[in-house]
Amino acid sequence: MSATETVLITGASSGIGLELAKCFAADKSKLVLVARNTEALERLAVELRRDHQVEVVVLTMDLAKLETPREIFEQTGRAGITVDVLVNNAGFGLHGAFTELPLPRQLEILQVNVTALVALTGLFLPGMVERRRGGILNVGSVAGFVPGPNMAVYYATKALVQSFTEALAVECQNSGVAVSVLCPGPTETNFSEVARGHRARELKAPKMSAAAVAIAGHQAFRRNQCICVPGASNKFLATLPRFLPRAAVRKLVGKFNKLK
Ligand SMILES: NC(=O)c1ccc[n+]([C@@H]2O[C@H](COP(=O)([O-])OP(=O)(O)OC[C@H]3O[C@@H](n4cnc5c(N)ncnc54)[C@H](OP(=O)(O)O)[C@@H]3O)[C@@H](O)[C@H]2O)c1
Repeated sequence: MSATETVLITGASSGIGLELAKCFAADKSKLVLVARNTEALERLAVELRRDHQVEVVVLTMDLAKLETPREIFEQTGRAGITVDVLVNNAGFGLHGAFTELPLPRQLEILQVNVTALVALTGLFLPGMVERRRGGILNVGSVAGFVPGPNMAVYYATKALVQSFTEALAVECQNSGVAVSVLCPGPTETNFSEVARGHRARELKAPKMSAAAVAIAGHQAFRRNQCICVPGASNKFLATLPRFLPRAAVRKLVGKFNKLK
């Protein structure tokens, strides 16, 4: 932790990202908050400045656009902001069979969850390594451990986040840069509402609070722990596939994700 550290968080306008912003603000880190919803970001910025006396910059950005990561990199550079910690949290998924969901929206999932995450990492990580400080905290999911019928693209994006982050953690060993992946299970946020879209039924899985997930991820990152699966039931969910045949795993997950 450092009083002069700057932390950039994507998807800070709600849910886990918003709660992560509170955790880093409590460390007295300066913050750059990124998402599309300016009003929600500004509201959070006011709260964090008031409660923690930290500097907060708001960037309204759409990560579904290919050029956005470079724009973020250039805007922070022009403002003289050195990003020490990058939290790649923005993400969404869609429930439904691959063939029934609109292809452009599915490609958007890839863009936000994967391409933007890799691009931002590629832009900010070299500076961290050069300065021998800082880190990357990526938000994956327990979905990253298994294939996910009826949410196929989302699960695949989280598998990439998982694999990519673990690999980077090894590459960055002894570099002074911490690399972690936070893998939540079902969490009380806007995620399900976005994922269900027009569909009516809510999944009946028990959910952790976004605050509890964020606190676990933040602590793991500060300890330089590579993988953080918050909560006992999520740890069980993440471990179970190792003991079951792969065919059984994909059928079970498909059933879990079926809406009707
Ligand atoms: N909730 C769960 O059950 C759960 C479980 C495992 C993993 N996760 C992961 O946790 C992360 C955070 O999700 P959440 O659960 O906190 O859901 P959430 O409340 O819906 O938050 C998603 C965040 O991502 C941002 N975002 C989405 N599309 C964006 C875009 N095109 N450009 C910029 N920002 C965008 C949203 O901001 P704007 O709408 O303002 O742009 C919002 O701040 C995601 O990566 C998700 O996959 C969630």
